[in-house]
Amino acid sequence: METMYGDKDRKEFDSMPDMMERIEEAAREAGGIIRSAHGVDLQVENKEGRANFVTRYDRMVQDFLTKRLREILPEAKFLGEENGMDTFQPGDEDGWLFVIDPIDGTTNFIHNMHPFVTSIGLMKDGVPYAGVVYAPVTDQMFSAVRGQGAYENGQRIHSSKAPLSESIMLSGSAGFSMEAFAVAQELTRQVQERCHGVRSTGSAEYNLCMTASGRAGGYYEMRLGLWDFCAGGLILEEAGGRITDYYGRPLSWRGPSGIVALSEGIAREAAKGMPDTGSFYDRWKRLGQQQV
Ligand code: IPD
Ligand code: CA
Ligand code: CA
Repeated sequence: METMYGDKDRKEFDSMPDMMERIEEAAREAGGIIRSAHGVDLQVENKEGRANFVTRYDRMVQDFLTKRLREILPEAKFLGEENGMDTFQPGDEDGWLFVIDPIDGTTNFIHNMHPFVTSIGLMKDGVPYAGVVYAPVTDQMFSAVRGQGAYENGQRIHSSKAPLSESIMLSGSAGFSMEAFAVAQELTRQVQERCHGVRSTGSAEYNLCMTASGRAGGYYEMRLGLWDFCAGGLILEEAGGRITDYYGRPLSWRGPSGIVALSEGIAREAAKGMPDTGSFYDRWKRLGQQQV
């Protein structure tokens, strides 16, 4: 299939026939490490701000993935949440770049409460090319390659066509910024009265996969790192959904951003400026402008 990235890149990727299987296998092994943490000392540390945690397992899984993925694609560079690899560097927009969140949902992980996932995005020349999100507790493997659709455990997935009024929505739940939380709460108040209800799972990548697989109508969060939405953002787009910043603009895929992720149905409503969803989307964007 012809893609915006051209046949050359596609051939390059396809010439490594088991590439996706090997990346998925790495994510599965990472999930095994995460599951093995049950009942042991996680060595929880607080990072910058309040309720922003890292454990021995976040670091261990990122080290494991960096090593394993380097074996799979030696020429790739790396960006990951932990171990001082969290900044998009000059030159990262050229060639292959793995974007890793070893455990997305660390606070859930600390409390032994599903969901927490491992996410691996693979960018090619500055835009997402492939994505894998693995939820070890439920053994759910979400994946996508640009132009080839999105999958959950090998089955093709599609985002929902339902309108906002018939959907569940997902909101971000970061505990580390009370200012961002206050704005998100106001958004949630507005969303709540227009849909079947708003939920908060505690994992950005899982939220994107829930939207991609048609369970949720969308997800919004004020402030995320690239590793929180790189893999899931591609999976959602490949499932027919849409991910933008709060102004409705395409993401830069260069670093932190607020995001609005919508199913096909709600994105269509928003684009048409439907009396409810459309104007609501404008309010959403206005509130988002108070980026905190
Ligand atoms: C967090 C989770 C959470 C979101 C936070 C993220 P982490 O990632 O995705 O759902 O609300 O903004 O930082 O720290 O658990 O990898
Ligand atoms: Ca994360
Ligand atoms: Ca993390």
